[in-house]
Amino acid sequence: MGNHLYSTRLDLSEEVRDKVATLLNQTLATTLDLKTQTKQAHWNVKGKDFYQLHNFFDEMAGELEAYVDMVAERVTALACVALGTAKVAAANSILEEYPLTAVKGKEHLEALADRYAAYGAHLRKAIEITDELGDADTSDLYTEISRTIDMRLWFIEAHLH
Ligand SMILES: [Fe+2]
Repeated sequence: MGNHLYSTRLDLSEEVRDKVATLLNQTLATTLDLKTQTKQAHWNVKGKDFYQLHNFFDEMAGELEAYVDMVAERVTALACVALGTAKVAAANSILEEYPLTAVKGKEHLEALADRYAAYGAHLRKAIEITDELGDADTSDLYTEISRTIDMRLWFIEAHLH
């Protein structure tokens, strides 16, 4: 999907804006997907740790919702078009679909650990790519998200010991 680049006074080249927007739109799709997957866990988890996990997953979903907005608005700050519908997210996300039959806390925690790890790896790569392209602001946004996701992966994995 090619980017529509608006004209802008921004001092980043069209080439950089095009490459960064493509990457950000992939991140947008993946973040939206991960948010809905985390909500899926929030709604469907059962077992003796229900209440704690129900709240834990909701806190993570809320964080991801904020990142969806930040990523989309970085695309528009680059004078490109943010691609953030559910259908685009489904088509462009790097994540596998959530196991819809998961019930117990452990099943949800393992599914989320796998997906947070994949998302975290994508973010770390994106920090490097945007840095090399000379877009320090997008790289900084990725760094911020990456720090939170690494922490969340720690929290999720801590439940699995
Ligand atoms: Fe809820």
